[in-house]
Amino acid sequence: MLVSLLFSATAVVAVPTVLERDSSYPIQVSKDAPESAGVAILQPFVSFSIEFSSFPDFAGNVSQPNHFSNQLLDNLADLQGTKPHIRVGGNTQFGFVRPQSEDFNQRNRSSLSLTDYPSIIYIGDSYFESYATWPGTKFSHGFNLGKNGTAGMNTLLGTVPLACKALKDGKLAYWELGNEPDLFTAYPVRPADWDEKSYVDEWLAKTKIIKRQLKKSCPELSTDSNYKYMAPSFAGLTNGMDPVKAWQAGLDDDHDIGLNSMHNYIGGADQPGVTLARTLLNHTSTVHSVAQHVKLSRVLNEKGLTKDIPYILGETNSLYRQGKPGLSNSFGAALWGVDFNLYCASQSIRRTHMHQGTNYRYASWQPIQTDKATIGTKAPYYGNVMVAAMLRGGDSDSESNSSSEVQVVNLPMSHETEAAYAAYVNGNLARIAVINMQEYNYTGSGEPAARRPSANYAFRLPEISARSLSVQRLLANGSDAISGISWDGWSYNYELKGGAPERLGNVTIGETVKVDGRGEVEVEIPYSSAVILSLDS
Ligand SMILES: *[C@@H]1O[C@H](CO)[C@@H](O)[C@H](O)[C@H]1NC(C)=O
Ligand SMILES: *[C@@H]1O[C@H](CO)[C@@H](O)[C@H](O)[C@H]1NC(C)=O
Ligand SMILES: *[C@@H]1O[C@H](CO)[C@@H](O)[C@H](O)[C@H]1NC(C)=O
Ligand SMILES: *[C@@H]1O[C@H](CO)[C@@H](O)[C@H](O)[C@H]1NC(C)=O
Ligand SMILES: *[C@@H]1O[C@H](CO)[C@@H](O)[C@H](O)[C@H]1NC(C)=O
Ligand SMILES: *[C@@H]1O[C@H](CO)[C@@H](O)[C@H](O)[C@H]1NC(C)=O
Ligand SMILES: *[C@@H]1O[C@H](CO)[C@@H](O)[C@H](O)[C@H]1NC(C)=O
Repeated sequence: MLVSLLFSATAVVAVPTVLERDSSYPIQVSKDAPESAGVAILQPFVSFSIEFSSFPDFAGNVSQPNHFSNQLLDNLADLQGTKPHIRVGGNTQFGFVRPQSEDFNQRNRSSLSLTDYPSIIYIGDSYFESYATWPGTKFSHGFNLGKNGTAGMNTLLGTVPLACKALKDGKLAYWELGNEPDLFTAYPVRPADWDEKSYVDEWLAKTKIIKRQLKKSCPELSTDSNYKYMAPSFAGLTNGMDPVKAWQAGLDDDHDIGLNSMHNYIGGADQPGVTLARTLLNHTSTVHSVAQHVKLSRVLNEKGLTKDIPYILGETNSLYRQGKPGLSNSFGAALWGVDFNLYCASQSIRRTHMHQGTNYRYASWQPIQTDKATIGTKAPYYGNVMVAAMLRGGDSDSESNSSSEVQVVNLPMSHETEAAYAAYVNGNLARIAVINMQEYNYTGSGEPAARRPSANYAFRLPEISARSLSVQRLLANGSDAISGISWDGWSYNYELKGGAPERLGNVTIGETVKVDGRGEVEVEIPYSSAVILSLDS
């Protein structure tokens, strides 16, 4: 339902038809987690995937660690209770070889065949230094599967000791072998008849080789509890390889898969018809995109193929091909990120790794200065921040934080430009998030709005005792803003304190809303902005 839109008389932007409040308004929110809640998220939920070739830019090395990136990760840890997990992988995961005799510092930038990343990279010992720069972070390292033959095998064998030495002492989350193998025949790095069974046979053979190497180099990482993969890391469900068939072919025969990881993009940067309003500021589009994973997860569970293996998105973001300028880097994309991630959480997708790379349009931050992009915190990061705040476990100071169960419910709305969620901590209602995704431009050639429209949202919380709720807002001047963004009055911009939170003087904070005698609460939300209402203020 689009509810009680409050327009000032001077508003000149086009507005949608005001719908009548229907019988389900105000939106009912129960005190205890309902049946419809998603399975408890994994901690951390907010996580990242970093393009293999970009990882040294994001993390730096031992002599020059990237403090800015680390600060942004620490901010998220402060909010959600745990530092994001980092998956190091992506398309360049399969393009590299480790030269036998040489130790190249990073990657060969002169061999750029694609505009955003090198087609071939050479890595050696110093690449793995980047795993030492972010204290308290757990990583997933992506081993090469795509490159076959002697070079591919040498890469695999050569990198196992380097990766395991870099990741022992508690830094390893999961291993990964192969990025998007469902696209291997299309690239093509495998013959056309390479199918689910061929993939699984090769995956099983090569993971056995990895395990043998681990036993030699890092025996402590080859124990059953430490030796786990994320897999199958398919790009999608319809690229000619069926994940169900891969699991049926025995992907988990060695019982070493810890996470069922799939990839997702909402659309493509170059796809015709992709716009901010149609594609990103559109809850229906998010629901459609996530529905295929919900279905796959159900089928796998019904067939007993992934029992007790959490379903995650190991690589995801807004628009594939690294995002579209003006869309993926805008505040609108941050609002999309909040809706997408909370919707995933509500559908039992238990962790998401938002994909990052140097100069990528959809990146949450640009880790270094380049001739293509300015170092800095980008709009999507503020979406990550709000998701982290919504999904926080217990008290951040409490040791038991990471053992708190956080569940999310998608609250029904009838308009596709709005979305709302309730978060339950250990079964008790803790927060409500509302995202008003009505597009609002503040720049551009269109007629400027004299006043920014807003909508009122009312919730009925019949059983709660709280007399007021605290309000935190995700704000910017419009959905087309790429700077000037704040969360609860905080800026995380590089220019201010290198990414550390800085309170802005021009944003209202400390707002509360009253709960009336019937347990109803109402909040006004400007177009293209979002709020969290918290009970634990
Ligand atoms: C560490 O990174 C800096 C900055 O990119 C670079 O100049 C230096 O050569 C690197 N050190 C090593 C040991 O690779
Ligand atoms: C980088 O790639 C170019 C083009 O493929 C090649 O000529 C050059 O030798 C490579 N440099 C290194 C250091 O590998
Ligand atoms: C790739 O290499 C593996 C291991 O050597 C082998 O089993 C497999 O058949 C190869 N696949 C292709 C398509 O060449
Ligand atoms: C929102 O997305 C759905 C599903 O992709 C689509 O059918 C609908 O037309 C979109 N809405 C707008 C306003 O473009
Ligand atoms: C916002 O600007 C974009 C790009 O110019 C335009 O396509 C869109 O219609 C505008 N939206 C509104 C609500 O004015
Ligand atoms: C946002 O709007 C305010 C008030 O008009 C203006 O002072 C500020 O410069 C704008 N911010 C950006 C990033 O454009
Ligand atoms: C608040 O100040 C910041 C930093 O100067 C600016 O970027 C932002 O646009 C301002 N916001 C408003 C609403 O004026």
